[in-house]
Amino acid sequence: MFAMPTQPNASPAWQRRHLVGIEPLTADEVRTLLRKAKSYEGVSTSRALPKNADLHGKVVVNLFYEDSTRTRASFRLAASRLSADVLDMSASGSSVSKGETLVDTARNIEAMGVDIIVCRHGQSGAAIQLAQATDSAIVNAGDGQHEHPTQALLDAYTIAKRLGLDADFDFTGLTIAIVGDIGHSRVARSNVHCLTKLGAKVILVGPPTLLPGAFDGLDCEMSHDLDDVLPRIDVINMLRVQFERLAGPAFPSQREYTTLYGLTAARMQRAKDDLVVMHPGPMNRGLEIESAVADGPNSVILDQVANGLAVRMATLALVAGQ
Ligand code: NCD
Repeated sequence: MFAMPTQPNASPAWQRRHLVGIEPLTADEVRTLLRKAKSYEGVSTSRALPKNADLHGKVVVNLFYEDSTRTRASFRLAASRLSADVLDMSASGSSVSKGETLVDTARNIEAMGVDIIVCRHGQSGAAIQLAQATDSAIVNAGDGQHEHPTQALLDAYTIAKRLGLDADFDFTGLTIAIVGDIGHSRVARSNVHCLTKLGAKVILVGPPTLLPGAFDGLDCEMSHDLDDVLPRIDVINMLRVQFERLAGPAFPSQREYTTLYGLTAARMQRAKDDLVVMHPGPMNRGLEIESAVADGPNSVILDQVANGLAVRMATLALVAGQ
């Protein structure tokens, strides 16, 4: 978020210097981020183009308490494309494994002269805690089951590019399904906020055990029937079943899960021909998505990864006051 929860009306919100979630942002702020990302296209992925100097002289720290491949690499490359100095830190191999608290670790790193802390943590609210306890700009790279704002932004950006909506980022008229392990998913939560702010209709689909009441207050439809939903959607975002967050079995067998909720080539027959297929990664191939679909013509899964760079460049630049 760019506004702290205790100061919700601070404006312009970028000056709050944080992105801890999509929920506190206005639709205009979301679009500003997406437009800024568009301005970085080309610089983000082409090594032939010179680096941009927007973060020259700034220090970005990646502080990751949970595993990550895409998000961590993407923030690192984004910061370096903007000419920042980047420090990568993870819980294992640092004093965190000796019992130091998140805030103590962050304050100590900050004392070395840091401008932006990108944090991933298993506890919901960790990014907000850091924003309140430190002077650095905080970017949430995923906090527990709460939010993963840059994932939602890169998902929205990818949809807009694929469907030619990147002139105004207006999703009015689009119907988007998010399918699978909704309950444990910070990606789902950030996506619901982001997509509805941009004007889309969102349908959450999953088994009752993975579709909890926590999403009841949000402006979206709920369904347990993927086959019913499939013909009427323009975009589908398949979520990973997060086994590491399940307390016990959430469905009778993996085979049954795939039968009811897996995106298979056979099931794709029910969908519109140009359905946009997404997955935030990492994928459980053969469980929530079949390889023929993940690697097929409808898939934008690798575009999501590529677009993540421009979105993270935009985020870092905006929280740094650019
Ligand atoms: C997601 C995450 O970590 O929240 N992955 C990602 O950032 N690309 C989703 C997941 O782990 O399933």
